[in-house]
Amino acid sequence: MRTIPGKITAHTGLLGVIGYPVEHSLSPLMHNAALQAQGLDMVYLAFSVQPFHLGAAIAGARALGVRGLNVTVPHKEAILGLLDGLDDLAARVGAVNTVVNEDGRLVGHNTDVVGFLEALETSVRGGASGRRFLVAGAGGAARAVVAGLCREGASQVWLYNRTEERSQALCRVARGWGPTECRVASAPMLREIATCVDVIVNATSVGMGETVKSTPIPVDIVDSRHVVFDLVYGPRPTALIAHARAQGAVAMDGKEMLLRQAASSYELWTGREAPVEVMRIAIESVGS
Ligand code: ATR
Repeated sequence: MRTIPGKITAHTGLLGVIGYPVEHSLSPLMHNAALQAQGLDMVYLAFSVQPFHLGAAIAGARALGVRGLNVTVPHKEAILGLLDGLDDLAARVGAVNTVVNEDGRLVGHNTDVVGFLEALETSVRGGASGRRFLVAGAGGAARAVVAGLCREGASQVWLYNRTEERSQALCRVARGWGPTECRVASAPMLREIATCVDVIVNATSVGMGETVKSTPIPVDIVDSRHVVFDLVYGPRPTALIAHARAQGAVAMDGKEMLLRQAASSYELWTGREAPVEVMRIAIESVGS
């Protein structure tokens, strides 16, 4: 059977996102809207993959000839050793959010870096250059954020994470990414650090789903001078976003970054320029 426009047939290619949890993901809405708008014979699904199943999921994707995957919490780093190759940026960052099936070889990429930087530009004129940041988190998302900040010449990055060994490890790597001064923050230092940073970024998973009322840092360190960028997105604002807005600070959730990284992933899979406005409408229809 040949491709029939708008129908799933034996030729239809499979794309998807793997994560745990993944039920909140807006990626299927965005990517299916884009594929349909461009008449491409592919579908995009969400797969809830527990950490102990990651190896089996990747082997399965390879065996089934899945065309491409997005990778989200908590697999962005764990997946590195399971792939057949990495592009330069993913290897340098040490995290993968996009997998491309290149003739049977699963190759990891990282479109979070460009997604983060493009989204940041929409709220911080001139972007990261010369600015000071407090970043919460030290997982795969935080690695992409810090790599982007170093690439764009942020002057200072303070890294705060629940597990300090991970922020120390990320800081050590980041010192090789450029002249940005990267330092580890401990909890008692946060209040003072907040007084001398311009932008506060949540790159933890705190605020997702059930944890919408939890915050990765004490919210009362945020004031009206700050720009707050919470990578989490969901139907309701996170407690961090809600508090920042109440203080009069500029605050953005993770939807813009989601959109920008998705557009880059789509381009890697399809070789086509992504219909960004179609994708934006698809996620805006869900509300925030
Ligand atoms: P990803 O690769 O998508 O970033 P991850 O590697 O699991 O996912 O990282 C999740 C981040 O959220 C980590 O910084 C994690 O902190 P730990 O390194 O201490 O695990 C952070 N995180 C997750 N749940 C948290 C919680 N309840 N409180 C504070 N930080 C949390």
